[in-house]
Amino acid sequence: MEVLRKGLWCRLDGSYAQRFEEAWANALGAKYCVATASGTTALITSLHALGIGPGDEVLVPPYTFVATVNVVLLVHALPVFVDTDPETFQMDAGKIEAAITDRTKCILPVHLGGSPADLDRILAIGQKHRLPVLEDACQAHLAEWRGRKVSTLGELGCFSFQASKNLNSGEGGAIVSNDEELIRVCESFHNAGRGAATADFSYVRNGSNHRMTEFQAALLLAQLERLEEQSRVREQNAEYLTKQLREIAGITPARMYEGCTRNAYHLYMLRYDKAHFAGVPRARFLEALQAEGIPCSGGYAPLNKEPFLKNTLQSRAFRSIYSAKEIAAYEARNHCPANDKLCQEAVWFFQTMLLGSRADMDQIAEAVRKIHKQAALLAKT
Ligand SMILES: Cc1ncc(COP(=O)(O)O)c(C=O)c1O
Repeated sequence: MEVLRKGLWCRLDGSYAQRFEEAWANALGAKYCVATASGTTALITSLHALGIGPGDEVLVPPYTFVATVNVVLLVHALPVFVDTDPETFQMDAGKIEAAITDRTKCILPVHLGGSPADLDRILAIGQKHRLPVLEDACQAHLAEWRGRKVSTLGELGCFSFQASKNLNSGEGGAIVSNDEELIRVCESFHNAGRGAATADFSYVRNGSNHRMTEFQAALLLAQLERLEEQSRVREQNAEYLTKQLREIAGITPARMYEGCTRNAYHLYMLRYDKAHFAGVPRARFLEALQAEGIPCSGGYAPLNKEPFLKNTLQSRAFRSIYSAKEIAAYEARNHCPANDKLCQEAVWFFQTMLLGSRADMDQIAEAVRKIHKQAALLAKT
């Protein structure tokens, strides 16, 4: 209401965006933060700051929200997919080095579902090959790797505060870093290429407008007050749920890497093996769960096989940058068999469900047990 009444709705006039940046950097133990309009614009700004553009390759997971891939294509670079580790649902760090070429300019791991990707290995590969690591932490608010908040371990880290996220303002995003030079470029790029966070008319680079509004920042400052407590509830409920679900044959909750000291549980992810459910297809299992009053989803489809990717590579802009031979070579190595299989087996529950009571968790587990028990009957109907 203060933002509304004062009439200072843009960050260039008000103080909320800056206050949120300070609070979010502080919550993460990061030196710097730039608030943005969304997670997508945080990633685009970061790619620009890292100087990534036409002719470059960026290593991405195929198991992620489409924005991770969209941003690479938007700077006219090629998203090179590294297959998924099906046990953790994260980019398989053991397959990164094989995907590196002399065109690779960045590793872009996603902490999918709020569970950290294998940062020890990813950061070591980044160092060895002198590749910056841009962490997509859009789903991983307050997640930790060996006691440090994810997003602060790579060169840059990005968040989303879109409505579905654990910390949300409807839309919103942020970039964090400990590298002053990089963050100053982000600050400038996201503010129309101005030299500093001002409204004057002098520019130091080509930029864009990816600024957060004062309304978003005010909402986030209030939301931030309850994030720690909510994160604790999600973690406790998820652990309780895992204990029950892993006792059911054919249900395998996502494993965390040994270095994970905190999972943000944006998603509760598991694999469903129909062989233990009398061959009942996953779609039928999801329907049965929903009939028991349990919201759920089958999650992502394989992004590397999306028709829009092929269409983009055939666009005028891409054809003017990449030869037909280069595109063909890219397509020939674009295979992620482990991810294809995972996409058929995944089941998700949402972070809001994990804010419920212990009784809610019991209800989820009981529904899965019931379907397991009645699977033969379900298979016949
Ligand atoms: C992994 C991931 N990356 C990027 C984004 C993009 O964020 P936004 O929707 O705020 O642009 C999202 C969320 O939507 C996401 O889940």
